[in-house]
Amino acid sequence: MSLAARIGLEHPVVQAGMGGGIAGAALAGAVSAAGGLGTVGIMGERAFTAALAEARERAGSGRPLAANLLVPFTRRGHVEACLRARVAVVVLHGGTLPEVIRTLTAGGIEVLQTVGTREQARRALADGATGLVAQGRDAGGHLVGVQDTPQTLAAVLEVAGGTSVWAAGGVAGAADTERLLAAGADAAVAGTRFVLSTESAAHPGYKQALVAGTRTVDTKLFGFGWPMRHRVLVNDAVERWGEGPAAVRALNERSGRFGARLPLTLMERYPSVQRLSLPVFTAGPALAGMPDRVLRVAPLYAGTSVAGLHDVIDAAEAVACLTPPGR
Ligand SMILES: Cc1cc2nc3c(=O)[nH]c(=O)nc-3n(C[C@H](O)[C@H](O)[C@H](O)COP(=O)(O)O)c2cc1C
Repeated sequence: MSLAARIGLEHPVVQAGMGGGIAGAALAGAVSAAGGLGTVGIMGERAFTAALAEARERAGSGRPLAANLLVPFTRRGHVEACLRARVAVVVLHGGTLPEVIRTLTAGGIEVLQTVGTREQARRALADGATGLVAQGRDAGGHLVGVQDTPQTLAAVLEVAGGTSVWAAGGVAGAADTERLLAAGADAAVAGTRFVLSTESAAHPGYKQALVAGTRTVDTKLFGFGWPMRHRVLVNDAVERWGEGPAAVRALNERSGRFGARLPLTLMERYPSVQRLSLPVFTAGPALAGMPDRVLRVAPLYAGTSVAGLHDVIDAAEAVACLTPPGR
């Protein structure tokens, strides 16, 4: 039985976990209530626990719910919150955590690892992951993908054996979902489509930028504390600094070690004090309620899918738009 069937997913549409507050209870709960799989993104432990409880309420009984954990920021409280909220699925991204996989699977939770290569897929399976997310380099936000999504999916399926694989990157509509399902994916994962929903906590100016924008780049500029690649819209920070000065790139490379030890809540608040003139930018997203100037200096995460997205709609409508007929 496929993973989507095991968790009782009505439609093969997954809302990506998006950390730092973008994907909270309102978004995840609405997606799950609409028959997709809603995912609460990582945030400080206390807020994460509360968001999972609220999302569970909003999803309604019998609807599966997921949580996303960025490995460097994962603490014991996050793992306990997932167990307590009885999430059906946890998706890990940005590193390996075999002991957490063991704890969660022992609690009856399906654990998927986000991978971009065959080697990462093999490692995840050896660690005990019960599913994989094949992420292409077209994906928005936090990137492990190095090839286009169809190639990544094919490569990951080659080593997956019977394990279910979901595919992320380039999903703007039902035709994209159908293409990935036809290529062997068990479900399609979309992020940018759901940032552009009423329920996402993205800054309204960020949503407008997504509606208007089409040009994305894959960059490490927003790498203070999280020195991995991101796909973002080109904003003032990217225009002005490109990949950033060499000294800042070196600082970012080293910052992973201590950045992950800082409280996530500090990283989340930092965008409000960032300045265009000082190119030390964190991965903290531009959220509703932050001053408008964050739009110039915070990462405006977007996948190549942004070229096909032109409106802000309710999350339930987004699930319907992404679901192929008869699926
Ligand atoms: C705003 C935003 C934030 C993201 N944050 C995370 C994250 O915290 N954890 C994660 O596993 N993936 C994250 N991603 C990547 C998604 O999981 C997914 O791979 C991607 O959104 C798919 O591409 P799409 O945005 O074109 O649909 C993020 C993506 C976006 C757009």
